Amino acid sequence: MAKLSSNDNPEQGVVVRDLQLAFGDTVVQKDLNFTVAPASVFVIMGVSGCGKSTLLRHMIDLARADQGEILFDGQRLTSDDPRARAALQRRIGVLFQSTALWSSMTVGENVALPLQLHTAMRPAEIRDQVAFKLSLVGLAGQEQRMPSELSGGMQKRAGLARAIALDPDYLFLDEPSAGLDPITSQRLDALILRLRDALKLSVIAVTHELPSIFSIADDSIYLDNQSKTAIAHGDPHELVRNGPDRVQAFLKREPIEADADA
Ligand SMILES: Nc1ncnc2c1ncn2[C@@H]1O[C@H](COP(=O)(O)OP(=O)(O)OP(=O)(O)O)[C@@H](O)[C@H]1O
Ligand SMILES: [Mg+2]
Repeated sequence: MAKLSSNDNPEQGVVVRDLQLAFGDTVVQKDLNFTVAPASVFVIMGVSGCGKSTLLRHMIDLARADQGEILFDGQRLTSDDPRARAALQRRIGVLFQSTALWSSMTVGENVALPLQLHTAMRPAEIRDQVAFKLSLVGLAGQEQRMPSELSGGMQKRAGLARAIALDPDYLFLDEPSAGLDPITSQRLDALILRLRDALKLSVIAVTHELPSIFSIADDSIYLDNQSKTAIAHGDPHELVRNGPDRVQAFLKREPIEADADA
């Protein structure tokens, strides 16, 4: 069977159209247009302050734009119908940069919480699901540990287990490997790719870790903080060779114009 790509059906996946991000009169990014194909990893790149987290927050409806639209398999998260909205929200998993595990709950209780809140599963089923999700992220049997007893990398993976607790179709990650050592970061990248393939997830990740960008991205966008729009879109392996100068410099870790004055 042919690989499903965004071209097979333009309504499939996550579609961002003519989106403008602004705080009051200050435009952060404008004219954003891209599609995240099903079962793929899409990376949002750009220098600090260009608007990556702001874009992510808009995509999961923590903030609303005045201009543009975001569609998940053709459906708007901003629908007026609260039931449709809630149903779509359930298909979205999020791992914030700070992980934000509940520190007073065990790892198992953290992962169980979305299941208790959003499903009618019985305690035994929840226990099985929690065990399954923890094993997927390499934390089998760690249910009873407190978050404070885990290393930074383990906390990220526990956060990931919680983000996929409800079997989402779309997974949003804000700098998942920031602050991790290179080996742990590599393992997390491998895990993200395994989740993409095993669960057919569409992953939208903000990262400026170069090794991560090159290992996980099927597609990417570069948000430029000077022109306030995306100046490049595509496979980073391609962009590093043929992209605009600023994007090549970013992907090669060369000093860029914005830093030259510093
Ligand atoms: N709530 C807010 N009110 C006003 N301005 C904001 C708000 N949140 C972010 N901004 C501004 O929007 C711009 C983009 O911020 P954002 O956090 O999206 O950047 P980023 O690309 O995620 O940066 P980093 O890589 O440092 O995380 C910044 O200039 C920031 O000051
Ligand atoms: Mg950010």
